[in-house]
Amino acid sequence: MPLALSLLLALHPPFAQAETAGTAPRQTGDAALADPLAFTRPSANLGFENSFLFNFGNRLFRKDWASSSDSQVPSGLGPLYNAPSCHACHLRDGRGQPFQAPGQPSQALVLRLSVPATGQADMPAPAATRPDPVYGVQIQGRATAGHSAEFRLGLSHTSRVVRLSGGAVAHLARPQYRLSEPAYGALNPDVTISPRIAPQMIGLGLLEAVPEADILALADPDDRDGDGISGRAMRVWSPAQGRPMLGRFGLRAETATLLDQTARAFAFDMGLSSPLFPDPAGDCTPAQRRCRAQAGAGADLSMDALRRVAFYSRNLAVPARRGADRPLVRRGEGVFHRTGCAACHRASFVTDPDAEWPEQRGQRIWPYTDMLLHDMGPDLADDGPDGMRREWRTPPLWGIGLTRVVSGHDRLLHDGRARGLLEAILWHGGEAAPHRDRVIAMPPADRAALIAFLESL
Ligand code: HEC
Ligand code: HEC
Repeated sequence: MPLALSLLLALHPPFAQAETAGTAPRQTGDAALADPLAFTRPSANLGFENSFLFNFGNRLFRKDWASSSDSQVPSGLGPLYNAPSCHACHLRDGRGQPFQAPGQPSQALVLRLSVPATGQADMPAPAATRPDPVYGVQIQGRATAGHSAEFRLGLSHTSRVVRLSGGAVAHLARPQYRLSEPAYGALNPDVTISPRIAPQMIGLGLLEAVPEADILALADPDDRDGDGISGRAMRVWSPAQGRPMLGRFGLRAETATLLDQTARAFAFDMGLSSPLFPDPAGDCTPAQRRCRAQAGAGADLSMDALRRVAFYSRNLAVPARRGADRPLVRRGEGVFHRTGCAACHRASFVTDPDAEWPEQRGQRIWPYTDMLLHDMGPDLADDGPDGMRREWRTPPLWGIGLTRVVSGHDRLLHDGRARGLLEAILWHGGEAAPHRDRVIAMPPADRAALIAFLESL
């Protein structure tokens, strides 16, 4: 609203707006602050023609595969699945809500499974793992009519106290998952369960277009420079490209491209097959005989449909920062860098001028991630009988200040355990333990500035 007009409204009580001036959110000039749809917009440089492609992808992203208008025509969903649409987990293109009720994880929380692969002990984890022989790569908590969901999921918390400088106290609650009512027998005794919440969807095409060499240049797996930060690049097989590539997507960078991630999500989260994941039974193993027998035949999705959904995922815009010039925010930016957070949450990259897709070429971006895996310590690790998996990919921090507005909650980290930004920092361990300790010990005003900076991203 122009300043003159808002003054006018404030000076003239008869206007309805003026009556609510005291309680209404202040006009900041940036609508994103109060916009739950802030993550759903296409990037500004999509041409007119491409906006159709984006909208088409969006429709498939939101399509509810469980509600077929004609129940005689199978939709292809399942038989075992986690959620009936991409949107059900990535709600409004934001991160999923981890708990739907106290003691009950939501469908947006996926429990991935792995057991040590025999005969490959010399390979580094997680390469030396394979899916659970009965339950597959992840637990599906839902099934179509006539089939049984794999488990019932329950949840409890153990909590511990962290005392910060200035007398503040934080209570960190660690989730513990309970699997009951197994429908297909026992899990493998050596299984490691890795809980993961659906992440936000913005800026992914830009991250896909960061030159591989620039990410690899940051990797220092053996910490040769002795700064306490290693950073490991993940190598994964890309079904879309038919070759090993740098892993970029997923919370452990286990997927190389957005097309791969899309096809994988359709296959394992929804049981929908495609040319890249052609098995019509999705994540049903040979031990789940009934599921395999009734899974249908042929691909549920064409390559074209996959490409459209990937196009949508590639082109969701990153909202502008809010209040970046406020003195508190600027001070917090200084604290962020002085504390060493940018050693992993690397502020900026320039995307490849020759990137595959024209919309993502040659842009200076500010994602606050190095796209590498870091040892985050035992508290954040997946704990299994074959040891702990302590590594996670540094998540991008852009948009993180809009989590509450977009997703209606402020649950952060890979499993949504942290309630807000400060708790997320306090959970840091491993390579980031010194950084966490600096935040605990710093003057409270610096801490407040740091949080204000993160809120502005
Ligand atoms: C059951 C919930 C669920 C559904 C349904 C789902 N996702 Fe996800 N999504 C996740 C989780 C959990 C992750 C993290 C996966 C990991 O770490 O391996 C993820 C990761 C992603 C990523 C990577 C983001 C990043 O920052 O690395 C993309 C892209 C994505 N999903 C797209 C999709 C698309 C497209 C669909 C529909 C075809 C979909 N998802 C369906 C839960 C879901
Ligand atoms: C050693 C690398 C490293 C350092 C140093 C580091 N982080 Fe992180 N950060 C990570 C990783 C990896 C995660 C994801 C951990 C998880 O999900 O379990 C993360 C998660 C976060 C999150 C939550 C993001 C989300 O999407 O849920 C915030 C906020 C954050 N870091 C802020 C900071 C701040 C502030 C600092 C400095 C005090 C810092 N980090 C230092 C690696 C690092």
